[in-house]
Amino acid sequence: MSDLALHPEALVSEDGVHREIYRDPGVFALEMDRIFKRTWVFMAHESELTSNGDYLTSRIGTDPVVLVRGEDGVVRVLVNRCRHRAAIVCEQPAGNAKSFRCQYHGWTYRNDGQLVGVPYPERQAPAVRERLGLTALPRVESYRGLIFASFNPDVPPLTEHLGPGVIDYIDRFLDQCLGLPLVAHPQVHRIAMEANWKLQLENGMDGYHAGFTHRSFFDVMQRRTGASVRYASSLPTATARAFRNGHCAIDPETTSRKPLVTRVKTLPEATERLESLRREVGEDEYEGYLAGLPGAGINVGIFPNLQLIGIHIRRIEPLSVDRTVVSVRPLLIDGGPEDVNWLRLRYHELFYGPAGFGQPDDFEMFERVGTGLDDSSDEWLRFERGRGEEQPGDDGDTLLGNVTDETPQRCQYRQWIALMAPASGA
Ligand code: FES
Ligand SMILES: [Fe+2]
Repeated sequence: MSDLALHPEALVSEDGVHREIYRDPGVFALEMDRIFKRTWVFMAHESELTSNGDYLTSRIGTDPVVLVRGEDGVVRVLVNRCRHRAAIVCEQPAGNAKSFRCQYHGWTYRNDGQLVGVPYPERQAPAVRERLGLTALPRVESYRGLIFASFNPDVPPLTEHLGPGVIDYIDRFLDQCLGLPLVAHPQVHRIAMEANWKLQLENGMDGYHAGFTHRSFFDVMQRRTGASVRYASSLPTATARAFRNGHCAIDPETTSRKPLVTRVKTLPEATERLESLRREVGEDEYEGYLAGLPGAGINVGIFPNLQLIGIHIRRIEPLSVDRTVVSVRPLLIDGGPEDVNWLRLRYHELFYGPAGFGQPDDFEMFERVGTGLDDSSDEWLRFERGRGEEQPGDDGDTLLGNVTDETPQRCQYRQWIALMAPASGA
């Protein structure tokens, strides 16, 4: 382990972080152990696993896992590692299976992890089947369809870990279209980036950058709508919020989603689709659906790897100190009018995904940060904006700043240091 990893408390101050938290492989290894193996990690939305036998392969930190709904209907998270000599037992990203057979020497595991087949058993030590099932994670819980898992048997119950402040925001996100149930789109954008995972962690809750990094998006929207289009950075009602345990939110449109709906209306075919929707659902419901087209208009961050933004679920998957996969999965209205889901997807694609107007700009910035990090003349990055000016929220669970404040980033690094250096007293 590097010297830096031995002293993570030296890498975070009250209003900034040292560049080595993005660069040092020892720090990365410690994060996988102390963050991703100690706390709740987001896995998937339950609509990705509707039938018994449905599975997804994934990772918790860098540990390969399979998330699978067993024949008893229970969702388990199993370590994707054969108990014989460590080959992964499931190599497909998703599917349906009653069992997983390791291709190396043919050991077969039922989809609840039980070892049920060992070739040539007469040469095998007794009771191997009882002893060597796939390792199941001790804790799997969900909140309103969001499934989390933990390697840590002693982690507090999920809802306690989340807390009322961020739960209120999760609810707002999930109730974004007339409170109708949401289902995950079967397809996902998976974007690999040459950058440390925490750059996405910070950026998804960054209300400061939008007007600059995404200037071209706002310019185009302004041309299309004929109205002045800006990010809500100057509104005093636009807030950044820090909750417990590193969770946070930015809330730029506290009173209205109208500016977002105006942008949806500029999409090709929008006029025809909206007219068809109005005819289908009637005037009263039409307004409600309209408000739900662009999503809830908030960004919600659950430390360390989940972000709820627009209409999508974003999962951050660290691969190595300088390589990360970001997966972006849109949510559709379950059984909703086809025009609603069509418009939601087209608006989502306008900004997000590899061909979107906005998200690639963020990745470009991450790579520029990576280049700047090579400089050693100044080793610190600063998150001091708005520090000392935040106000406590009414609920006792929230710290409130302006939407452009670095309140969320300070909140995330308080949790980072609490997990990485629990004895430091930070
Ligand atoms: S490593 Fe899986 S059966 Fe040998
Ligand atoms: Fe961005």
